[in-house]
Amino acid sequence: MSNIGSYEERIEGFDWSLSEKELEYTPGDRINIGWYCTDRICRMGKADKTALIWEGLGGASRTYTFNDIRLAANTIGRFLRDLGIADQDRVCLFMDKIPELYLGFLGILKIGAIAQPLFSAFGDESLLVRLENAETSAIITQRKHVSKVRKIRDRLPHLKHIIIVDYDGRKPLQEREQAFSLDDADPVEELEVFPTEAESPSVLHYTSGTTGMPKGVKHVHYSLIAQYLTAKWVLDLQDDDIYWCTADPGWVTGTSYGIIGPWSLGITQCVLDCGFSAAAWYRFIEKHRVTVWYSAPTAIRSLMRAGEEVVKDHDLSGLRHLASVGEPLNSEAVIWSGKVFGKPFHDTYWQTETGVIMIANYPGMKVKPGSMGKPFPGITGVILDPVSHEPIAEAGKIGLIAFKPGWPSMMRTYWNNEATYQAKFVNNWYLSGDRASIDNEGYFWFVGRDDDVINTGGHLVSPFEVESALLEHEAVAESAVVSKPDEVNMEVVKAFVMLNPGFEPDAELELKIMNFIRKKLSPLAMPQEIEYVESLPKTRSGKIMRRLLHAQEWGEEIGDTSTLEDE
Ligand code: WTA
Repeated sequence: MSNIGSYEERIEGFDWSLSEKELEYTPGDRINIGWYCTDRICRMGKADKTALIWEGLGGASRTYTFNDIRLAANTIGRFLRDLGIADQDRVCLFMDKIPELYLGFLGILKIGAIAQPLFSAFGDESLLVRLENAETSAIITQRKHVSKVRKIRDRLPHLKHIIIVDYDGRKPLQEREQAFSLDDADPVEELEVFPTEAESPSVLHYTSGTTGMPKGVKHVHYSLIAQYLTAKWVLDLQDDDIYWCTADPGWVTGTSYGIIGPWSLGITQCVLDCGFSAAAWYRFIEKHRVTVWYSAPTAIRSLMRAGEEVVKDHDLSGLRHLASVGEPLNSEAVIWSGKVFGKPFHDTYWQTETGVIMIANYPGMKVKPGSMGKPFPGITGVILDPVSHEPIAEAGKIGLIAFKPGWPSMMRTYWNNEATYQAKFVNNWYLSGDRASIDNEGYFWFVGRDDDVINTGGHLVSPFEVESALLEHEAVAESAVVSKPDEVNMEVVKAFVMLNPGFEPDAELELKIMNFIRKKLSPLAMPQEIEYVESLPKTRSGKIMRRLLHAQEWGEEIGDTSTLEDE
């Protein structure tokens, strides 16, 4: 029997107080995610239950019980507090998927500070803009990533502490650097948890938009109420499950469902910190008898490409429930997984801003391959007419996905950017920025984004950020960045570049430009191709028409070009 039981029955009279009751939370009380994921689970008699099974490169592995993660979070929390980190200070986590990333996250929350996880593959410039915007006080990192922090620290007056979790004493520590080792520190049995309340800020995740710099999405401790229940009902996590979320906590999936959801439910989870390979993934599932697996379409497409033979080499019979998020999940992938794993991937749809799954295919519900499913109980999701912003009643008609604000884990603002936050609301609807339609049975069908943001392999890339990096190169006069089709990543980044006089449009220059921007961008945002052009299509007001270049790449109708400069 699945946790959700009947979706239809759950919708009837749904109230989030159901989740509050299960978590024994009374409105007005203190609420701290770090405490809920550790101390409370230990109090419930699960102190010796395995919380984390971790595997890294070269066969390294570690296992932690709930009491171990409680102690580790306390120890990191105490260390930060002793450094002078206070509640609401931003503490960045800039690490590979090593245990300290997960345990540090909980430690930061326990002392009431705000966790700012950033993907460790970010280059120094990507790191800089996010730390600058958040006025981050401390960064926790590893030896292998500290050089990026050193390059930018002089431009970050707020950054007082650079904490290295694997310092080996070989080279002297530099300005503002501190060594901290979980293995060497005295475990802190009791830590005074900061009395955070429902609206106290918890996590700051950066996400890309079409214009401007990345936006810091501010979440609060009350988000737990929704993270807990969605993890329970959508991912169907049950007490004896072994759960694997493949996402990195640099992205929201890796925190909402790679830390908070499962651990607030007292579930054992696995983490694999090594690059993608079908054989390594299947071996991992087999070895740990993974039962619930939450992954992403790009990974699933890569597994499809690796073929069925490699599946047959492994015993994956432990798998009970599969779910996916981040990009459109093609019907082929759903059908394929049904064939090779004996169960379909259940698509789920949500955003950094929503904090939790908003639309999903639930256990026990009929899966329509290619559809994202239906809104979570308590979530009012509609399709709005793009002009009137009124809900569209007609089945199959495409419009904007919008939600009625007010669920517990809705972002509270964009950090230092309230105006952009306010602009996300029209007629008291939160606009997701995506387009879809609803069929006559209430299933949502994703169509595309309503802006120019590129979703490459589940990672949102702002064309503006890539264009800005390109423009800093002396040879580049103008640039326009759009997506082009790709078999595995669905779409990848392509840059059109107009050169300054005196530069030759050749392969050598392309390489130079690529190397120049590589230092500024995350590897995921790197263009796969640069095309030199004599001019770029623009509107009469001088805005580059990415839409036209996009249509050209995708072989689509060009549509209305009446505002084009050259006409
Ligand atoms: C896209 C990730 C199609 C969408 C949790 C959304 C999806 C953006 C799906 C959010 C899905 C997410 N089908 N598209 N099931 N899930 N998206 O903020 O464009 O990194 O707005 O959060 O990813 O990406 P974000």
